[in-house]
Amino acid sequence: MGPYAFLQDETPVFLAPMSGVTDAPFRKQVMKYGAEVTITEMVAGEELLNGSKSASTRLVNESLSGAHVVQLVGREERALKYGAERARDAGAHVIDINMGCPSRRVTGGLSGSALMRDLDKAERLIHAVLKGAEGIPVTLKMRLGWDWDSINASELALRAENSGIRLVTVHGRTRQDFYEGKANWAAIADVVDAVSIPVIANGDIEDLRSAELALDQSKAAGVMVGRAATGKAWLVPWLQARLNGREYALPSMKRQIESLIEQAEDSVSLYGERTGMRVVRKHLSEAVSHWAGSCNSQLISQDLRQALLRSESVSALSNALFRIEDSLMEVAA
Ligand SMILES: Cc1cc2nc3c(=O)[nH]c(=O)nc-3n(C[C@H](O)[C@H](O)[C@H](O)COP(=O)(O)O)c2cc1C
Repeated sequence: MGPYAFLQDETPVFLAPMSGVTDAPFRKQVMKYGAEVTITEMVAGEELLNGSKSASTRLVNESLSGAHVVQLVGREERALKYGAERARDAGAHVIDINMGCPSRRVTGGLSGSALMRDLDKAERLIHAVLKGAEGIPVTLKMRLGWDWDSINASELALRAENSGIRLVTVHGRTRQDFYEGKANWAAIADVVDAVSIPVIANGDIEDLRSAELALDQSKAAGVMVGRAATGKAWLVPWLQARLNGREYALPSMKRQIESLIEQAEDSVSLYGERTGMRVVRKHLSEAVSHWAGSCNSQLISQDLRQALLRSESVSALSNALFRIEDSLMEVAA
């Protein structure tokens, strides 16, 4: 499909890029659970041009295998072309352009979803990335439009296709919705009708049922999952297997714990102990809520939860995770 002809399944499930969440340590775990593609957090072309070290770090491919997609954001042609060249140097198999981010910091700089208000400019930036990409496939991520009075995802997708973009992902909200309300999957169907390249549906997909509904309503070629995957590195590969009729056993708690510990170790190596432990915390918090929910129990005490979320080293974190496992095992016994 589009740039992803190598995918084993007909209906792909992609992990959404999320700044501060889907960093290299997390993506490595998603790959280890079986994903074939992951996308970096957005990297600003302007920051790369200014020599920002943290922007360069975001380009890196830590994954063991699979396709490495670098997502670029930016407002200047020169910066985006440079970003595409750097992404190519970093081994990107595909480059994605972000025209969906609603953040004022990003839209204030006339990038991200603000580009949906100026399609001529959006098109010039697409050409700049294509130039820098030199043949590496380029994809585009967008929203439905700036607001509900100016829905123009189909027009942007068509211009993108005519420029040489190989796949588009549409988050079924407008910029003015930010993350409020419910994603409108049916509205994505208009984009599917408008173009011949594959369209991926995104927004509020969190399990098999919502993925099936999103596919049915949007007629998209695949789905992309963001927030629901936090703390659940297995979710995207599991969902892809299930959507395509393959068996995929849910990982045991022990396996999930080992994965979280390895993610924490990698996070500490990448950012240093203080920041590394802070970054991994949101994954821990979501993992614990998930375990508590699936056991339908209050058995993960507040004390244990706090011990986990306040841990300042990987060894403290491991300790807390295994104590949580013990407390859940006691109930199961
Ligand atoms: C914390 C956070 C960071 C995000 N960062 C990015 C980003 O870097 N690039 C991007 O295209 N979208 C970003 N998004 C949007 C997601 O990729 C996705 O489109 C959105 O969360 C809707 O999907 P979901 O309902 O499955 O989470 C971000 C979303 C969140 C919540």
